[in-house]
Amino acid sequence: MAFAPLPLTPYTPPRPRSLSPLAGLIRTAWNGDGNLLTLLPASAYRMRIGQLGWSRRTTWIINDPEAARAVLVDSDDVYPKSDLMTGALEPLIGDSIFTSSGPRWRQQRRMIDPSFSAVRVAAGYRFMTGAVDAFQQRLEGLAGSGEAFSLDAAMSDLTADVICRAVFGSPLDGGASAEAFAAFHVFERSVAQVELGRLIFDPPFKPVPQKPEVLEACAAIRRLLADLLDNRPAGGDDMASAILAARDPETGAAFTREEVIDQLGVLFLAGHETSASALIWAVFILAQRPELRARLRAEVQEVAGNGPITMEMAKRMPFVRNIFRETLRLYPPITFLPRVAIRDTVVGGVKMKRGAMLMISPWTMHRHQGHWDQPDVFDPDRFTGTREAAIKTGTYIPFGTGPRVCAGAAFATTEAILILAELFRRWDFEVLDADKVQPAARLTTRPAEQILVRIRPA
Ligand code: HEM
Repeated sequence: MAFAPLPLTPYTPPRPRSLSPLAGLIRTAWNGDGNLLTLLPASAYRMRIGQLGWSRRTTWIINDPEAARAVLVDSDDVYPKSDLMTGALEPLIGDSIFTSSGPRWRQQRRMIDPSFSAVRVAAGYRFMTGAVDAFQQRLEGLAGSGEAFSLDAAMSDLTADVICRAVFGSPLDGGASAEAFAAFHVFERSVAQVELGRLIFDPPFKPVPQKPEVLEACAAIRRLLADLLDNRPAGGDDMASAILAARDPETGAAFTREEVIDQLGVLFLAGHETSASALIWAVFILAQRPELRARLRAEVQEVAGNGPITMEMAKRMPFVRNIFRETLRLYPPITFLPRVAIRDTVVGGVKMKRGAMLMISPWTMHRHQGHWDQPDVFDPDRFTGTREAAIKTGTYIPFGTGPRVCAGAAFATTEAILILAELFRRWDFEVLDADKVQPAARLTTRPAEQILVRIRPA
């Protein structure tokens, strides 16, 4: 039986107010948090391709979808991942699939892709439901006590548990995995996708030294990953086993042990931090909007009744999926996809110098006034019917595009639908100090200050 959707009232969730370039720079310097979002001038949401004038190396924002695609597809290896980003991530994930470029990246992608096939996502679904069930028990305790808790930390714990189960076949319940995530939080707090100070002051290709405590945290995480790898349950259908079994289809080569640890680091980093970021924003938005919750609940009830949500059911929840998609539009976890030009080049008709930083920015692309109707309004129905068909190709890129598109997109989408459906069918979230919430771009798009919530039964 079809349900009649309640009309949605326009809702604009928080974003930093754009200032002039100089005022934005002063504000960001004053805040001292390196948040690139407070720096972006209003023109960044209107320009096709334009320079951010305050950096020593030339930095371009590319909002033209065709030009962005040309850079991201990069069949000639002219635009590798930016040296600022790879330098920052290297101590944790080496020259792995996320950071490498050219032939080395192509070989790793060939080997890793089977670990993310539809079959593997289906096999991983039980890991997701296991983590969600454990999380529900924790929420029952929190609802009983009425205690306020950090939504950021809760979502990170949940997605960390999902990825831990999927990669190693065992939950994040203390021991090596919990230690790995504690060290990971040190890393997350200290490292940005694009470190603002370096972007402004450093010339291109200057090495990125890391603070000793970050190097220590990375070494600890890598030791713990090795531990988890060696002590995982035998004969499981986890992702670590798939990576160990991976062979280059062209040469038959396997990953070395160090390379396996690199790739496990990527799964930790790319596989839980991003999903946690998206879920924090989705829960925050749903908590503000009763009509969104009502439609979500009606859909979950219609598809799954009061029983468990199977993977096949999760695929039949378009409204929940569109909430997730619209959240990824307004709060893309990977705020920028930074690339560097390794020679003088022309992008979208604009000449760029060797060493220029090319910021393809899901954040500005998704809020661009020329690409979207009411760009800052949260409207999940824009992904339905003729409205979806009218979305300009290449303007919606939360998972990137081209050959380096996110390998875990199907995994992340299934995980998010399951989590949102399960959480909101049972709970109402009350956000404390909702009017103080603002986004910040660090390692991912996170709330500038942690969001505190209380829950009660829906
Ligand atoms: C909402 C969740 C997620 C978002 C928004 C997201 C977004 C992205 C984006 C934008 C890229 C491309 C970066 C670039 O081109 O510079 C990427 C790459 C990647 N992601 Fe995700 N991701 C998510 C979840 C996941 C999960 C759950 C996994 C693993 C289980 C994963 C694994 C990867 C890997 C391995 C790459 C590197 C692909 C390559 O360079 O060949 N991601 N992701």
